[in-house]
Amino acid sequence: MCAVKDPVVIHKGLDNVYVKESKICFIDGEASKLFYRGYSIEALASHSTFEETTYLLIYGSLPTRSQLEDFTKRISLYRSLETSLLQLIHSFPITSDPMDVLRTAVSALGLYDPQPASDRIEDRIDKALRIMAKAPTIVAAFDRLRNGREPMPPRTELSHAADFLQMLIGKTPGDYDAHIMDVAMILHAEHEMNASTFSCTVTASTLADMYSIITSGIGTLRGPLHGGANEAALKTVLDVGDPSKADEYVVRALAEKKRIMGFGHRVYKTWDPRYVILKKLGAELAAQKGETKLFETATAIEESALRHLAGSPIFPNVDSYSGIVFHTLGIPTDLFIPVFAMSRIAGWTAHAIEYLQANRLIRPKALYVGQKELPYVPIDSRQE
Ligand code: ACO
Repeated sequence: MCAVKDPVVIHKGLDNVYVKESKICFIDGEASKLFYRGYSIEALASHSTFEETTYLLIYGSLPTRSQLEDFTKRISLYRSLETSLLQLIHSFPITSDPMDVLRTAVSALGLYDPQPASDRIEDRIDKALRIMAKAPTIVAAFDRLRNGREPMPPRTELSHAADFLQMLIGKTPGDYDAHIMDVAMILHAEHEMNASTFSCTVTASTLADMYSIITSGIGTLRGPLHGGANEAALKTVLDVGDPSKADEYVVRALAEKKRIMGFGHRVYKTWDPRYVILKKLGAELAAQKGETKLFETATAIEESALRHLAGSPIFPNVDSYSGIVFHTLGIPTDLFIPVFAMSRIAGWTAHAIEYLQANRLIRPKALYVGQKELPYVPIDSRQE
């Protein structure tokens, strides 16, 4: 064992470790509250748009009307892809996971930028906005190409959310669907120092370029314990198939020590406020489309899980209903994580920029517990 001078505390999972001061996001995990730049998530979901919320997250205050118009126009003009990038996406195997496609295409975007590593803050923000604007175009283009259809060009007159649905589905979405998509993107835009945001912050702290920063975030978001939980939660609901089978599923899963996807959170020890909003939207959307069975099955799983987990701090999180909302909007299941990523680029950017204002290289330590000073054994002398 390695002898250490002072007692070392290992914060497994970096639980309760603060890496910076921040003015971007506040979560009260005991009181079920979430604020972006001081504004409650309920107020933003009711009154804001994804474009306005992105401006707020990155620049720190709500825009004036003319600032918002300029910002919205700028994002809409950045949405189109270079022909060579479209050709690159076309060359990917159609069996590729869309999250791998997004990660690779965002990384490739840097190759088309003559000055990818410019470190002026305004340049960094501009690059991030270009990536954020193009992400829905990449995701929708790949989905159409893998289904043998031509990509739809972006339309500058549509909102970011509506344009994504238009490019994906091939027709202008109704106002209601566009609104639900917009709210879902607001809810996914930011969430303090989660795993993917930390990943972006670590990469930013090395003074790497925005393409590398956002590519790091996409890679980290991908896992089933983070962004992948929405896909897994919907798969559970589809597998269970009927509200009457929910309890049997929950009892078996918990007995087998499996996790109920869309439940539990490192910070929330009660209801995730985003879950509350998404459940309401999911119910409205299901009723509007006349497809209520999936929603009812999810609700039955939720009620059963809450009964069986009573007394523990495990409650539904954002992912318990986001998959149902995306599915009902016609978004394929394997695009859920890319849709999450498209939205979260706003928060990743805000944190990377904030960290860089008072940068210090992130370099934690590992407590060495292995052997030392071993005699080197030549290969011919080693026992097989
Ligand atoms: N279902 C059943 N039990 C659970 C669940 C769950 N969803 N979540 C945690 N637990 C249990 C664990 O089994 C563990 O029990 P034990 O102490 O008896 O071994 C205990 O609660 C603590 O679990 P940890 O993994 O240590 O808690 P942590 O704070 O690290 O977990 C996490 C957070 C990873 C989100 C966890 O709740 C989980 O795996 N949930 C399912 C996946 C999910 O929904 N992720 C989305 C999170 S939101 C987001 O990233 C957008």
